[in-house]
Amino acid sequence: MDRRQFNKTLASALAVAAVPEAPFLAFGRYRTRKLTLNGARLNRHLKELSAFGANPQGGVSRVAYSDADRAGRSYVMDCMRAAGLDVRVDFAGNIVGSRAGTDTVLKPIVVGSHIDSVPDGGNYDGTVGSLSAVEVAQTLQETGVRTRHPLEVVVWANEEGGLYGSRAVSGQLATSQLANRAWSGKTIEEGVAFLGGQPARLSEVRRQRGDIATYLELHIEQGGNLEREGLTIGVVEGIVGIRRWDVTVTGVQNHAGTTPMDQRHDALLATARFVDMVNRVVRGMPGRQVGTVGKIEAFPGAPNVIPGRALATLELRDLDSAKIQRVFDAIEVEAKRIGEATGTTFELQGRHQDIPALSDPAIREIIGDVAKGLGYSTRAMPSGAGHDAQAMAQLGPMGMIFIPSIGGISHSPKEFSTPEDIERGARVLMGAVLQADKR
Ligand code: GLV
Ligand code: MN
Ligand code: MN
Repeated sequence: MDRRQFNKTLASALAVAAVPEAPFLAFGRYRTRKLTLNGARLNRHLKELSAFGANPQGGVSRVAYSDADRAGRSYVMDCMRAAGLDVRVDFAGNIVGSRAGTDTVLKPIVVGSHIDSVPDGGNYDGTVGSLSAVEVAQTLQETGVRTRHPLEVVVWANEEGGLYGSRAVSGQLATSQLANRAWSGKTIEEGVAFLGGQPARLSEVRRQRGDIATYLELHIEQGGNLEREGLTIGVVEGIVGIRRWDVTVTGVQNHAGTTPMDQRHDALLATARFVDMVNRVVRGMPGRQVGTVGKIEAFPGAPNVIPGRALATLELRDLDSAKIQRVFDAIEVEAKRIGEATGTTFELQGRHQDIPALSDPAIREIIGDVAKGLGYSTRAMPSGAGHDAQAMAQLGPMGMIFIPSIGGISHSPKEFSTPEDIERGARVLMGAVLQADKR
């Protein structure tokens, strides 16, 4: 079948309105029933999930391992069971819903996202992809379509804290990181157990390269490009690498009234200069790298005490790991200078790393073809946000689908994507699963 024929077939296969005649149609190598994805049900599920951890600003505060996270996960597990999936929680706390394929030797097609949020987050980041994956499974069940590959719908645990669930599966999670503290106040170890996982057996969830046939994830763009350009679907080219450091600035704690201005070793003043310098260094290099100081604390933290110690975070992102390292090296040199000028010392300790990942060219082509077949405009784009897909790219071919984020706002209660765009994204996801199933 050439591409035009394929696009026409796909568009009718995924038509919104059920067409009563011709219950079967040729769909590539095999025949399949006409599929109608239930966009209204998908949007209702999203609304119902938004009640778990609802915050007064209209978004959700459903950080990983919180009561709201556990309750929301329980709701999603019910949706998965209703979709005919065989549901379990793995040792890392990931929710896995499985559906058998017709060919027992094939590796699974894995489709998923997350439902945990940042503090004071929104209703769409992660949830759109998670519930769309469930909707795809439910549509397959209701239409009696059996895929050749087994299908796994996964809700990854603690994505926002640093891809903990997916990195456990991809083998990128060191045991020492179980002691890290999550926003819920629990350590990762306590949190995994809280969700029903078994931290002591974490290594058993690890998969090897080749253990998955394809990984697909639908997500909101979290930036404003698609909306600004009036486009419907983003085909993700790659996901940025992320590195984070804890920054400790040490000065001398002293009296704020009696210490002359030229005799201070003010750790907070040095940190303020550090914030400005990071922005200058990151912007001073050509390219699309970004850098952020997202948190500062001063100690002891009183109006009449010159801060003797300050803590900050540094985060750098780029598609190229070497570029991140070059930016960091320049920041480190500048931090030393600030320390000399302010009589303080800087210590930058690496805390976290997600390696950049490119999507698979063949999966990108499938996503683009499916979207065009449905009549949707597309563009290729990088992802500046981190995703579980970058861990899964270590195991097999990965592809991601973006839908517009209104106003380009995300990690905020104001995050919004339209119900129509969500339904369109889910249809592209379903088409991509069916096409990937033919490979
Ligand atoms: C996750 O959403 C991230 O990009 O930090
Ligand atoms: Mn997300
Ligand atoms: Mn996020």
